[in-house]
Amino acid sequence: MATNRQVLLHSRPVGIPEASDFRIVETPIPEPGKGQVLVRNLFLSIDPAMRGWVNAAPNYLPPVEIGAVMRSFSVGRIVASKDARWREGELVTGLFGWQEWAVLDAGQIDRKLEDRIYKGLSPSTALGVLGLNGLTAYHALLEVGQPRPGDTVVVSSGAGSVGACVGQIAKIAGCRTVGVAGGTTKAALCREAFGFDAAVDYRSPDFAAELKAACGTGVDVYFDNTSGPVSDAVFGLLRKRARVVVCGTVAFADWSPPPQGPRIDRHVLVARARVEGFVATDWFHRWDDALVPLSAWMREGRLAHREDILDGIEHAPGSIAGLYRGENLGKRVIRLAGES
Ligand SMILES: NC(=O)c1ccc[n+]([C@@H]2O[C@H](COP(=O)([O-])OP(=O)(O)OC[C@H]3O[C@@H](n4cnc5c(N)ncnc54)[C@H](OP(=O)(O)O)[C@@H]3O)[C@@H](O)[C@H]2O)c1
Repeated sequence: MATNRQVLLHSRPVGIPEASDFRIVETPIPEPGKGQVLVRNLFLSIDPAMRGWVNAAPNYLPPVEIGAVMRSFSVGRIVASKDARWREGELVTGLFGWQEWAVLDAGQIDRKLEDRIYKGLSPSTALGVLGLNGLTAYHALLEVGQPRPGDTVVVSSGAGSVGACVGQIAKIAGCRTVGVAGGTTKAALCREAFGFDAAVDYRSPDFAAELKAACGTGVDVYFDNTSGPVSDAVFGLLRKRARVVVCGTVAFADWSPPPQGPRIDRHVLVARARVEGFVATDWFHRWDDALVPLSAWMREGRLAHREDILDGIEHAPGSIAGLYRGENLGKRVIRLAGES
């Protein structure tokens, strides 16, 4: 008889969560009650933010409890519904967790994957370029970064899921783009797959000089996914009235005590720069504004994306640590067994 494999948080990680912080259990496939649906998960999302979700420190979501199913965005198909709002067969997404099957209260479903956006595309895109990461790239760049034609836009983790999307939107907005990534393979990916005008490997011993050369007269928009030494180098290159979008801090596994580094104040002052944080949940009322153009650009061949697919839920426990080691080439997802 088929069972439900679930990944539970086993211990509270210090720093980056490793495979040993999770355990896999097998339980019976649950039955939905009144007002509930049963979803068969097809893809599970692996996101840098998960490190914060399992940490005891307060975050924008409460910490996952020890012994609970690991929180994750997922895409799945409704196989049974006891709620009038949802129908059997619909593809849906939301925080369904690291498990093969999920019984959900109807209100736990975030969105249905509508044909006008997803037709002909893999449902996994709802976890990346046509999901949280696309929403983030679109609104954080265009609303917070406010790029203008001719601007130089620097993107840290430029080969990653958010970063690659930001770089391509910036090109569509008429900007010159510079990607920063770890290693020559990812730098090449930035240029060749995602159309960055230049890309710099932050592991190069001459990184600061190479970045300066790539940025010409300076940086108008810095889209920061990492913080750390990459940001230290970019802040010294800001042009007058530069905008800095603080989207992620993946370079640091722990903020207690806060990591030390050069002060940015003088650069912000001299450049009259604006530094603003972005959290995607503030933009959940604007899904369509981002997903409709992103989907159209994909269909027109103007927006490329890559996925880093791991097959089977047994890969979930070690998958977050892998992100922090930069193993992923594109949006990291777990693909679960096909639909029968
Ligand atoms: N604010 C929001 O609402 C929001 C929403 C979604 C995502 N985010 C953030 O956006 C960022 C990118 O997320 P993503 O899902 O697209 O992940 P991603 O960029 O596809 O993957 C993470 C990448 O981080 C890089 N990295 C790891 N350690 C690093 C270090 N010490 N210094 C520099 N780079 C390092 C690695 O690439 P390399 O091999 O190049 O090092 C790794 O591949 C994350 O910080 C995430 O938290 C924020």
